[in-house]
Amino acid sequence: MTSPDYAVFGHPISHSLSPRIHAAFGKQTGIALDYAAIDAPADVFAATLARFADAGGRGANITLPLKQDAFGLCAQTSDFASRAGAVNTLTRVDGSWHGDNTDGPGLIRDLTGRHSLDLRERRSLLLGAGGAARAAAHALLDAGIGELVIVNRNAERADALADSIRDPSRVHTRYWNDLADLGSFDLIVNATSAGVARETLQLPFALVAPRALCYDLSYGAAAFGFVAWARAASAGKALDGLGMLVEQAAESFAIWHGMRPDTDPVHDALRAELPLLATD
Ligand code: ATR
Repeated sequence: MTSPDYAVFGHPISHSLSPRIHAAFGKQTGIALDYAAIDAPADVFAATLARFADAGGRGANITLPLKQDAFGLCAQTSDFASRAGAVNTLTRVDGSWHGDNTDGPGLIRDLTGRHSLDLRERRSLLLGAGGAARAAAHALLDAGIGELVIVNRNAERADALADSIRDPSRVHTRYWNDLADLGSFDLIVNATSAGVARETLQLPFALVAPRALCYDLSYGAAAFGFVAWARAASAGKALDGLGMLVEQAAESFAIWHGMRPDTDPVHDALRAELPLLATD
């Protein structure tokens, strides 16, 4: 059996759509590639990645819960990955790993490109402070949102993220238990992994301002609970992260192969299989 040139690492990983997305991009652009999904719990991730590199691995995507670990395994990182402290794209350069973070650009492309949304000056709430949240926070601030309130179950992690951003006039943290007292938001991003673990977040409807955009960074069934809550709260738009997934994959593909694929046909084919809600 030959080793793959490219792979996505995560835990769990069996349901990842990344192998399908990269295969579709390869077919569209005429680039032959071998892209696998490799299960790697955090305690064996570094060793598993080293074996992949020794066997000729050239590039990797990194997903939950390994993005901050991946950052620590890079010899160099892009400016955005350095600011986020999280890496989702590894490229083998001269025998070591170069780290990028395409989640942030992928999120913004989905929101402002595919959905034509204007993010500027939106009062925003970020739920979560893990690797996915870090990239989202920086990307949204770069895109010109107004105040960003970060709320995480573990408050110290939210404070650490806010401190690392160094924008105290725009970025604040609040306690999860105080969610009912925060007023309403024009943009609410769910960056927790609660849905992936099939846990339900108890969120007050009062968080949702009229015409608010509610966005879950996860997709498919993992996002059903948040999207259903947002619709019940009369959000202007409620989206899952399928578009971000396809866009971040396209950014990674461009880094590795020097060519950006057309994301719409791949996104539309996956959306047909993955409704925003079980009832759609
Ligand atoms: P990712 O790469 O997806 O960000 P992660 O780094 O493991 O994964 O972060 C998971 C995030 O989801 C964290 O913010 C976590 O909160 P804690 O830091 O308090 O653990 C959040 N999370 C997971 N399950 C949750 C739940 N049931 N309720 C609220 N937050 C949850």
